[in-house]
Amino acid sequence: MTQVFKIDNTNFTQIIKKAGSIIKNGGTVVFPTETVYGLGADALNPDAVAKIFQAKGRPTDNPLIVHIASKEQVHDIAKDIPEQAFELMDKFWPGALTLILKCKVVVPDITTAGLDTVAVRFPDNQIAIGLIQEAGTPIAAPSANISGRPSPTTAEHVIADLIGKVDAIIDGGVVELGVESTVVDMTSDIPVILRPGGISIDDIRRCGIEIAVGYSDRKVEDGEAVKSPGMKYTHYSPQTNVVLVDRNINIDEDKDKDKYHKATNTAAVSAKISEMIKDYHDIGMRVGLMLTEETAYDISSGVCGCCGVDISSCEVFMLGRRDEPADAARTLFAGLRYLDEMDVDIIVVDGSITHEGIGAAVLNRLRKAADEIIGV
Ligand code: TXA
Ligand code: MG
Repeated sequence: MTQVFKIDNTNFTQIIKKAGSIIKNGGTVVFPTETVYGLGADALNPDAVAKIFQAKGRPTDNPLIVHIASKEQVHDIAKDIPEQAFELMDKFWPGALTLILKCKVVVPDITTAGLDTVAVRFPDNQIAIGLIQEAGTPIAAPSANISGRPSPTTAEHVIADLIGKVDAIIDGGVVELGVESTVVDMTSDIPVILRPGGISIDDIRRCGIEIAVGYSDRKVEDGEAVKSPGMKYTHYSPQTNVVLVDRNINIDEDKDKDKYHKATNTAAVSAKISEMIKDYHDIGMRVGLMLTEETAYDISSGVCGCCGVDISSCEVFMLGRRDEPADAARTLFAGLRYLDEMDVDIIVVDGSITHEGIGAAVLNRLRKAADEIIGV
């Protein structure tokens, strides 16, 4: 049985008390953070952490992020912390930044998947902070979705995936950012970004910290060596096939990794999507579209060089403007889930969003979610 607690102005303390005692007693609680909902348990209790892997169907070699409620608490779980890590904590905590640090022995192997490092984050959300404080222990929490599915940004998404599989769900409404935290490995000489997220690479560089890009947006091949275990697995994927129409760059090549700012040929993206809609309609397929406002306009009006397509015959989910990636970040997982439920045969996604700021995280999630990427 899963208890669902809906937080309002009157019941915060009472709900945090109940949920905190579930964590203390080795149970599982789903809670909102500013990025996505997390599926939490006492990070220092191996039996409790095992329940997280069980509920999500998560491979046990994929370690969890440990959430803390103050900067000082980092010393309870991590050691040999480099000076630059403290600089990043001062600048970005609480916030969407996860730091990989050397791990203390109190953290059980199941939490770190047997690594000698631990991922630590101080989330910027009052419910999350209250819960960690009340539980009196750091809370291990991956995103609260069934493994492989889009991350949850509302309690409804969590309920769809995890009802009956966890002890409690705290409904704190829609999250603020909508994509997960940026993961930075602080254990190498130069910090390495393992996953782009809520804090952008430019935000970090602006602090005067040199940082390397250690992730790729493409799917990883079987047996390929990876820097972070999570990179091996399928992510963010709806059941329906997803085709992303993307800028035409070779994301495998190191030289391109740091040059995503290159402008997308946006007219070509619009023209390609128009052509695809016509082709799919010709063979009787129902099409789901995830579009920026500019691309939707191009397609409907025909200004992109095509003759104009009536998108009202498709299921359409709008991502916002190309140069407002924070709007796309907030809605993209909800959009993938929505289109998946609309009984379409294919989901076509517009990759014309800027790569600036949180746009890097948006494009990373879209590329990982895609079954096929068409470069234009
Ligand atoms: O915003 C977020 O980060 C959310 C909220 C709930 O805090 N959490 C989240 O957790 O996205 P999860 O488990 O879905 O993603 C954690 C990522 C995985 O890719 C995992 O492989 C990586 O962090 N990770 C965890 N511990 C690691 C470690 N010691 N070394 C390298 N990568 C690690
Ligand atoms: Mg996840």
